[in-house]
Amino acid sequence: MYFQVKGSSIRAEFNLFEVEDCMQPNMEVVEDVKLCPNNSDAVTVHVEVLVKAHSTAKREDVKVHVLALLNRHRMVFGDYKWVEFDEDFLAKHVESVAIVDTERQPLDLQSCCLSIHIFTLYDDGVSTLNLEEDEDLSAANHWLLPAAEFHGIWESLVYENGVKKQLLDYVSTTIFFSDKNVDSNLISWNRVVLLHGPPGTGKTSLCKALAQKLSIRLSNRYAYGQFVEINSHSLFSKWFSESGKLVTKMFQKIQQLIDDKEALVFVLIDEVESLTAARNAAKAGTEPSDAIRVVNAVLTQLDQIKRHPNVVILTTSNVTEKIDLAFVDRADIKQYIGPPSAEAIFNIYLSCLGELMKCQIIYPRHQLLTMLELETMGFQENNVSELSLILRDIAAKSKGLSGRALRKLPFLAHALFVKTPTVTLERFLEAMDQAVNKQIEEKANLVNSV
Ligand SMILES: Nc1ncnc2c1ncn2[C@@H]1O[C@H](COP(=O)(O)OP(=O)(O)OP(=O)(O)O)[C@@H](O)[C@H]1O
Ligand SMILES: [Mg+2]
Repeated sequence: MYFQVKGSSIRAEFNLFEVEDCMQPNMEVVEDVKLCPNNSDAVTVHVEVLVKAHSTAKREDVKVHVLALLNRHRMVFGDYKWVEFDEDFLAKHVESVAIVDTERQPLDLQSCCLSIHIFTLYDDGVSTLNLEEDEDLSAANHWLLPAAEFHGIWESLVYENGVKKQLLDYVSTTIFFSDKNVDSNLISWNRVVLLHGPPGTGKTSLCKALAQKLSIRLSNRYAYGQFVEINSHSLFSKWFSESGKLVTKMFQKIQQLIDDKEALVFVLIDEVESLTAARNAAKAGTEPSDAIRVVNAVLTQLDQIKRHPNVVILTTSNVTEKIDLAFVDRADIKQYIGPPSAEAIFNIYLSCLGELMKCQIIYPRHQLLTMLELETMGFQENNVSELSLILRDIAAKSKGLSGRALRKLPFLAHALFVKTPTVTLERFLEAMDQAVNKQIEEKANLVNSV
């Protein structure tokens, strides 16, 4: 979903979301960039323009050059990224221009509404929010968004059924409603997201990717993003004896970030079940009451900060049953994130193999087919499709392994079953097959021993 109002007079009030920079059907840069083609059903295409860190080019100029580039490449087939440019301005100032999050169908850019997001990455890395002089007492990790460290995570995560898009739409809507001061007594929503599911399915990564994406999408409204990661585990181990006081202190620091209305602030509470598990244990009398004080302090503070329109609270959990209701009720969206399907696994493997070919560990380079291409060929085996079909079988066999295990698998295959530094694709696929067998075996042993 994208908030789009046709007609510039109404649109002028819509300043939260990136106002679409649309092209007239003749593909020229137009004065009124808010106009879309004369087609009320025009699809909105998001174009992410990563400007080089040290560039001093004006955004307006970048936009003009990007529009000219798009003008020269009228048709695109799904997502596409330019990293090399045949003109000086873009080569000098721009790292990449990417058409993103399309439905993977051919697009005629002339008939689309283009929403252009121009951004640079902060590469200061992670910093810690310290509460005291004592350096050891780090309350949380902190990044400025869009962060170089988070770049590419969104694309690397593969889920089915539009999970990523749905989450993005959801959080965009919550921020939009808040920014418009919609009365939450009349329409109820909040800005708390809970991602739950088995270990290693990408929940933490997805939270980071989502925050990064939103900070890029909303760069017209918010100058930058802040990402604060609170690790519930460390919170307990370090602060137990200090009861709720330090929690209050930590949230005071977060409040300072929120007070800057130019910033969109994401607070991630990872593994939130450890908070609530502690509270339950305390209730049952098996943990000291300090635990209850810490958890209650966190919940109270969360309720305080979520009143601010520029805050989104992201939480993850490996187990949903353990989280106490007080917390679950705070989350508007509770999204289950499971292990990837065979098709998603195939795509994860494709990206891994592509990387190994790029680094020339798999050599010579071999063009593997996508699932769509295989499907179009009716999964017929021939010289072109042979290795892709083998990969499909390996992917099918890998079902049930977590995303984390899958991303490690090519490494294990090389370490355990490839005896030479470089290897042909055919030989590497054999090694991957062996590595998958080993993983499945280990998983079964683990289940049997429990
Ligand atoms: N669906 C997926 N597609 C691609 N990569 C994935 C997927 N799921 C997990 N991964 C990979 O697994 C790694 C681990 O992911 P992450 O730590 O975000 O998982 P998690 O669900 O938070 O795990 P945990 O529950 O143990 O905290 C990520 O770096 C990511 O590369
Ligand atoms: Mg995690």
